[in-house]
Amino acid sequence: MSLQAKIGPSILNADLVDLYSESQKLLDNGADYLHLDVMDGHFVPNLTFGHPVVKCLRNKIKSAFFETHMMVSNPIQWIEPMADANVNLYTFHIEPVMNSVEEVCRKVKESGMQVGLALKPGTPVEDVVKYIDDADLVLVMTVEPGFGGQSFMNDMMPKVEWLRKNYPTLDIEVDGGVSTKTIDCCAKAGANYIVSGTAVIKADDQKKVISELKNCVQSYLK
Ligand code: DX5
Ligand code: ZN
Repeated sequence: MSLQAKIGPSILNADLVDLYSESQKLLDNGADYLHLDVMDGHFVPNLTFGHPVVKCLRNKIKSAFFETHMMVSNPIQWIEPMADANVNLYTFHIEPVMNSVEEVCRKVKESGMQVGLALKPGTPVEDVVKYIDDADLVLVMTVEPGFGGQSFMNDMMPKVEWLRKNYPTLDIEVDGGVSTKTIDCCAKAGANYIVSGTAVIKADDQKKVISELKNCVQSYLK
């Protein structure tokens, strides 16, 4: 199947007391999936929420595609509970599990979820190459993971370009500082899964921002 443009807002900077209505609003405004940022206060210096919250959200939102972005030191630990919460795509960072990436991929697949492999800005793209055949998606971080609202790192685009050139059918995701101002270089480099937090959440017209992001990606996919 040909590549598709998908926009997945991150709810990290939303009003989390209203997680359900904030999430539903994003979906009503055209979000293709929800990007749920899970942090453990260890792999990154911040905390968000874990599988109990994801499961409650899933109980309210039955059919949307959920990606959990696992910014955690021990991704194996959360596979079963996230699968139980009906997460669709389990994206974990390879850095803390460099010696067991294949095993984590296998367990994620056995649990019935798709696999995403995430790279911090300092991690060279070469480090992920030998695992790409095991994965459904590669996430190139365009900020240091841990916080929303940071500035987009343009110098991550060569990683995206290299992946797109060598893996024409791979789903490539970017995350961090992506807005209507920075989408063009992401789309041009070859990203087709677009995470956008602050730029969508804080927009007066979410629908307009989501459709601008999507149109830009589609224009390069054609
Ligand atoms: C950062 C998270 C991102 C973040 C994106 O650690 O992984 O998903 O919430 O937010 P913005 O778009 O505001 O950088
Ligand atoms: Zn994220």
